[in-house]
Formats: sequence, C-alpha cells, structure tokens
Amino acid sequence: MEPKIIELPKIHDLRGNLSFFESPSQLPFKIKRTYWIYDVPGGEIRGSHAFKEQQEFIIALSGSFDIVLHDGFKEIKYSLNRSYYGLFIPKRYWRRLENFSTNALALIVSDKNFDENDYVRNFEEFKILRNV
Ligand code: TYD
Repeated sequence: MEPKIIELPKIHDLRGNLSFFESPSQLPFKIKRTYWIYDVPGGEIRGSHAFKEQQEFIIALSGSFDIVLHDGFKEIKYSLNRSYYGLFIPKRYWRRLENFSTNALALIVSDKNFDENDYVRNFEEFKILRNV
C-alpha cells in the first residue's frame, strides 16, 4: 500500500464542525491503539524510525506539523494543518515528524499494540528491510 492523505467527513452547522473516522469506512485498517503527541518544544523532531508491521493514521487535531516519509529511495513531505484530513502511513516507511507549531496536537491511531520490537530505529537497517 502507498501513503495517502485521507479526507474525513466534516459536518458543519451553526454550532461548529465535527469530523470523525471509523474503520473500515475511512481507514484501511482496524484501530488497535491511540496515542497523541503534544507540548513539542519548537524545533524538536519526533519519530525518525520505521515500523516493520505497524500501520498508522496521523491527524493534526490542532496546530500544524510536517511528516516526512522515506521509502528507501526518496522523501515526500506532507504538511498537516487541518483536523478534517490525515495521513495514512503503511508499514515500512521511515518517518519523521517536524516543524511543530505552538500547541500542535498530533493524534495517531495504529493497527497494533505498542511493541518496541516492531521499531526499526537504524536507517541502514531500514534500507535492508526495504531491500535497497
Ligand atoms: P516513540 O515511538 O519513540 O516516539 P516518537 O516516534 O513519537 O518520537 O516513543 C517514545 C517513548 O514512548 C518510547 O519509550 C516508547 C514509548 N511508547 C509507549 O510506551 N507506548 C506507545 O504507544 C508509544 C507510541 C510510545
């Protein structure tokens, strides 16, 4: 599967906006875990790793940040700055989250429970995993 921006429903009325996602309607996987990243000091970078099996969907619920994905050959940068779309990241993509705005809130849902053994934290090891 390829990384992709997934647009979410946006229900607008005079009381404000409401967006949501559920699987399988909006997401290509079943949600097993939710976590969020917040209070990131200016200039900090999160991530810088890949997952062997885990897939994720990331939304900027508040503020903005960039996600840079590397497939072993090239990088693609996605800027997230609205809460009605997010980025689907398939397994085996090296990813970096950077350029966090003040008060940025990253919501992440995953199809796996937390497992440190699923992390690839060394870029050379990642390239071997991708056969490059
Ligand atoms: P890590 O995934 O390395 O952070 P990021 O990729 O966002 O920079 O996680 C940081 C620490 O938090 C690490 O010690 C593992 C722990 N952690 C959990 O215990 N459970 C979780 O669901 C996540 C995502 C991380």
